[in-house]
Amino acid sequence: MKNTVLITGASRGIGKATAEKFAREGYNVIINYYKSKDKAIDLLERLLSSGTNAIAIQADVSNRKQVEKMFEEAYEKFGKIDVLVNNAGIADMTLFTDITEEQWKRIFDVNVNGMFNCCQCVLPRMISEKSGRIINIASIWGLVGASCEAHYSATKGAIISFTKALAKELGPSNILVNAVAPGAVDTDMIANVSGEVLEEIRYETPLEVIAKPEEIADIIYILSREETKLITGQVINPSGGFVIV
Ligand SMILES: NC(=O)c1ccc[n+]([C@@H]2O[C@H](COP(=O)([O-])OP(=O)(O)OC[C@H]3O[C@@H](n4cnc5c(N)ncnc54)[C@H](OP(=O)(O)O)[C@@H]3O)[C@@H](O)[C@H]2O)c1
Repeated sequence: MKNTVLITGASRGIGKATAEKFAREGYNVIINYYKSKDKAIDLLERLLSSGTNAIAIQADVSNRKQVEKMFEEAYEKFGKIDVLVNNAGIADMTLFTDITEEQWKRIFDVNVNGMFNCCQCVLPRMISEKSGRIINIASIWGLVGASCEAHYSATKGAIISFTKALAKELGPSNILVNAVAPGAVDTDMIANVSGEVLEEIRYETPLEVIAKPEEIADIIYILSREETKLITGQVINPSGGFVIV
């Protein structure tokens, strides 16, 4: 029986590259999307035409009912989920004093509560099967904090400590929980960052790179492999050395 992965926010960027990677590795792929229906359907059609078993499911990860429905549909189609990638996320740059209550709540709803919703929906079956991998997408800003992104950094810090706590709780159930904390990755999320600032980041990065989403997808995939079965509760930081902690 083929393994199955569910990736949140897989219509674009890192999530999309991750869906493509797992598909190439022979997984059944569940593509979650929220607003980018055309992009999700385009990805779905490409995966189906290359022989991957895949479905695309619309759900706002912050909405518990929609997430429950998504998992019901996923289990109905594939019977099990071996790997959950909590990737869906939003970001913006705002001075802390200008962040509205609504903005603060929304970023936590998507980045943190979305992960909470998906983990609670996937875990009953993973625990009863004593098997599973959860990979949460954090950020280097969750490790060291970013100016004008206090709200985003706080959500990513929460993802990191949640990952560590859950790894301890679920280890005896043979479920591995890890986080991937990238630096700058060339996706829509950083489309507003000027070329000059990106050059500065590249210059200050020991490996002199801005990561491609495919490179982050490779790291996410590695964390699903049998060979990494001793790695849990860790934060993998593929930032080219931009942040070394
Ligand atoms: N790019 C970077 O430099 C960078 C660095 C470190 C960490 N990260 C993290 O990596 C993850 C992916 O980022 P990215 O760069 O690939 O971003 P992106 O290109 O902006 O894509 C974001 C994805 O999240 C989905 N999404 C947003 N809100 C959602 C919701 N409420 N429910 C379900 N899906 C939702 C979007 O779906 P729709 O378009 O369908 O709405 C889209 O597929 C995020 O967690 C981000 O914080 C990114």
